[in-house]
Amino acid sequence: MIDSKKDAFEYFEITRMKRRKFLKNSTLTAAGLMSTPILVSCDKNKNNSSQAIIKPILPVVVCTWNFKNATAKAWEILSQKGTALDAVEQGVMVEEADATNETVGLGGRPDRDGQVTLDACIMDKDSNCGSVVYLKNIVHPVSVARKVMENTPHIILAGKGAEQFAYEYGFKKTNLLTKSTKKQYEAWKKTSQYETVINIENHDTIGMLAIDHNGDIAGACTTSGMAYKIAGRIGDSPLIGAGLYVDNEVGGATATGVGEEVIRTVGSFLIVELMRQGKSPQEACEEGVRRIMNKNKDRKDFQIGFLAINKQGKTGGYCVHQGFTYSQYTDAGQTENIV
Ligand code: GLY
Repeated sequence: MIDSKKDAFEYFEITRMKRRKFLKNSTLTAAGLMSTPILVSCDKNKNNSSQAIIKPILPVVVCTWNFKNATAKAWEILSQKGTALDAVEQGVMVEEADATNETVGLGGRPDRDGQVTLDACIMDKDSNCGSVVYLKNIVHPVSVARKVMENTPHIILAGKGAEQFAYEYGFKKTNLLTKSTKKQYEAWKKTSQYETVINIENHDTIGMLAIDHNGDIAGACTTSGMAYKIAGRIGDSPLIGAGLYVDNEVGGATATGVGEEVIRTVGSFLIVELMRQGKSPQEACEEGVRRIMNKNKDRKDFQIGFLAINKQGKTGGYCVHQGFTYSQYTDAGQTENIV
């Protein structure tokens, strides 16, 4: 265990070195060892600028990674003329409740002290937003975030205060550590080493964006964060502008991957602003990744994936390393997009 600030710095220096060594030996590094990231676009609509005058095909929902059940749930709501806000909340709740998903909600991997702590946020068409950070014992942090948005004058509630607030709104206390994650944690403690495995370890977040029949956009983002993180660590996911941003005039964006890198560039806000300047969702995500990589010229040992949607319902996704996927549901059905 790490007992002091000095130990903490040493811990991270050692794990950073280990990560580098690991990556040298990894077949997954082919993209990472090049001077610029290999980024493969899957956006069939790449040439459609967000400024093009085209009839929007609505509704649409997208989410990070191939969380098919989550987009199916959101689509159920959208197809019945429900709001984008309800769709994204109920969509990501599917993953929060799934104990086999070890990166979100119930069954999320714990911090290095064995505590499961959750981060989530939600944002609506009127730029209202709510967020919870370091929330324990509650299966649905996104719904607590929505309560913060709708029932308080605040935006972010943290830790004990957020937990108490949740109980006041009838959320049940639940042990989020499952047999499986407890066993993995006990095994991890033997070495206490953290190694990033691109597209596996960082499969951490569900970020979802939807545009409904009215053309209104909302987003939600929820995660248990980095496995075995230092207790108290908060990633990008609950931070409005970093892990999620929606501007109903323009579009929305969300992120997955190593949150520290997304926070540095306020990634989701950046992508929405790039779309405002005329970039398509795809182009904006590409530029977002480029900005991050420009600040990390010597580091390729992490994954970031961005996802975006604009007012026409066009979507795009981009990432540092190949292998980021996103799930999309439209009138044409459900697709898995590999970036
Ligand atoms: N992207 C989630 C996190 O870094 O916590």
